[in-house]
Amino acid sequence: MSEALIKHFATKLIAWHGKDGRQGLPWQSIRDPYAVWVSEIMLQQTQVATVLERYPRFMRRFPNVKKLAAAPLDDVLAEWAGLGYYTRARNLHACAKQVMEEFGGVFPQDPVLLEQLKGIGKSTAGAVAAFAFHERAPILDANVKRILARLFGIDGAIQEKVVSEALWSLAKTLLPKKSTDMPVYTQALMDFGATWCTSRKPVCLSGEKKCPFEKECQANLSDQVLLLPRKLAKAKSPEFNCDMLLLRHANSVLLQRRPDKAIWGGLWSLPESTWRAKEKISEPSANNSMNLTAKELFQLVLPDEQISSALKSCQSIERGVEIKHVFTHRRLWMQIWHVTSSDAVKFSGENLKWVPLRQLGKYGLPQPIKLLLQGLSLARDGESRN
Ligand code: ADE
Repeated sequence: MSEALIKHFATKLIAWHGKDGRQGLPWQSIRDPYAVWVSEIMLQQTQVATVLERYPRFMRRFPNVKKLAAAPLDDVLAEWAGLGYYTRARNLHACAKQVMEEFGGVFPQDPVLLEQLKGIGKSTAGAVAAFAFHERAPILDANVKRILARLFGIDGAIQEKVVSEALWSLAKTLLPKKSTDMPVYTQALMDFGATWCTSRKPVCLSGEKKCPFEKECQANLSDQVLLLPRKLAKAKSPEFNCDMLLLRHANSVLLQRRPDKAIWGGLWSLPESTWRAKEKISEPSANNSMNLTAKELFQLVLPDEQISSALKSCQSIERGVEIKHVFTHRRLWMQIWHVTSSDAVKFSGENLKWVPLRQLGKYGLPQPIKLLLQGLSLARDGESRN
């Protein structure tokens, strides 16, 4: 391993950032740990361009940890709508409560303590500690793993424990000596991985820009840039079908609050059947529900005690679109069924609710369902104008 590279890495990277890193992002140069933490969570699986729009809005709505902890989860989920990966929003809320209850409303400074908070992994703990408290704590997200695996020619699969441990240890060794350099260094690592040492089009291969590490990077020197980091082969995620009820009465639609622990937990969606493993060959069968009667559909998607009253008011049923949605670990085909109801059937319990189309914006909805219902809303507006 190159001693010289280890010694000069932080200085060179910071110099690179001064010239070619991203400057002036709203979450840079803040030291309020709450503001830093929110930005880090939002940036985890969301494009910077989207965060630029949504982060200031989130901060206006929940300006401090006390306000976030005191807000109903539904409000937090509604504010998060469209950003995806809703576990992040539920964890934000739970973490804010934890900070209020266990730390008197003050974020801990020690990355080991930060890591104990809901939704904060080791790398995010490092980032918050570095940005907010100038702690000499390393980060190691997927981008940083890629940079280090290439620079130092680490060719074990990054999912393996020994490889991960070696990378953490290296990440620690490379930290700048001065703690005041931690924010710019951490940001530089993130930016270098996101914009220069990218997964598929690193600048060293395009030849458009000169990488500051081209003469030291083991992957570059041995022509293995696109082969590193090595990953274990990923199995294709399993596929499922379900049926969804789009029940309408006048200009309202029936929504169902999803259980907290489920996918899209806590969001408002359409009542749906249990998921069935998708058959490889698409043949007409009960499983891919070619044609359902209203009774069959209601039996699949509504609680038993609600079926008969829903049936009495049912006017029409029509098979709608099939929507595909890709989750991190599974793929789902949702068959939409349009059903009209002659009156707003009373549903007991708090989880089923008639919602006027124009009030949908107040509810946290899964993105594909939001798009579907927005389509209905537009059609309705169009009709009322004509
Ligand atoms: N991804 C995670 N944290 C980030 C940050 N601070 N800046 C840019 N991208 C990021």
